[in-house]
Amino acid sequence: MAALQRQYGLRYFVETGTGRGDSLAVAAALNPGFDALMSCEIEASLVTAAKARFRDDPRVTIHPKASAVFLDRVCRLLPRDQPTLFWLDAHFPGADYGLHGYGDEANDAVRLPLAEELRAITRHRPDGKDVVIVDDLRIYQDGPFQHGNLPPNVRAVCPKARGVTFVKSVMGDTHEMKLLYEHEGYILLTPNEGQQDGR
Ligand SMILES: C[S@@+](CC[C@H](N)C(=O)[O-])C[C@H]1O[C@@H](n2cnc3c(N)ncnc32)[C@H](O)[C@@H]1O
Repeated sequence: MAALQRQYGLRYFVETGTGRGDSLAVAAALNPGFDALMSCEIEASLVTAAKARFRDDPRVTIHPKASAVFLDRVCRLLPRDQPTLFWLDAHFPGADYGLHGYGDEANDAVRLPLAEELRAITRHRPDGKDVVIVDDLRIYQDGPFQHGNLPPNVRAVCPKARGVTFVKSVMGDTHEMKLLYEHEGYILLTPNEGQQDGR
């Protein structure tokens, strides 16, 4: 994260899916740090706990919102010329913490909101100078993941059609896409060369 922050001059950190705030804590500890860090979480109890965890850091705000709504609002407020790191990690409301089952959320766009999130980012930030990291690539495809493929019970509640072509369709004009297989896998979207120098 630190290397990307330096390379692309990232000033803001925007996360979907706060959870217990572990990624947010890593981002908040970077030095030199982000100017502001914003995260959203759909589960009220996790929002309360995360607000308490970060209460001493005035740069951090936690928003009790579904991710697509949050991104639509936050992208209107972000300075358009300031590169931002988007960390997209919202899926399966409450399930990773035992608050709900993986299939409990019936609305596909809330259970797996990635496509809507990417569309919100490109709609508001068409210049394409931002870096986007999608956590948990293994939700979308199988591969040689350090932590293995998705467990069958979670796979069962994912869409039957798998793959990441939808990511390329939304971001491909402005970003290069790289798939990483560490942990549960990541999609790394970095600005195309032309995007970086304003051409
Ligand atoms: C993998 S966990 C997040 C982990 C966290 N980013 C970390 O690294 O510590 C996913 C989180 O996304 C939340 N979530 C799921 N769907 C969501 C949605 N549509 N909008 C906002 N948050 C959502 C879940 O409740 C859960 O807390």
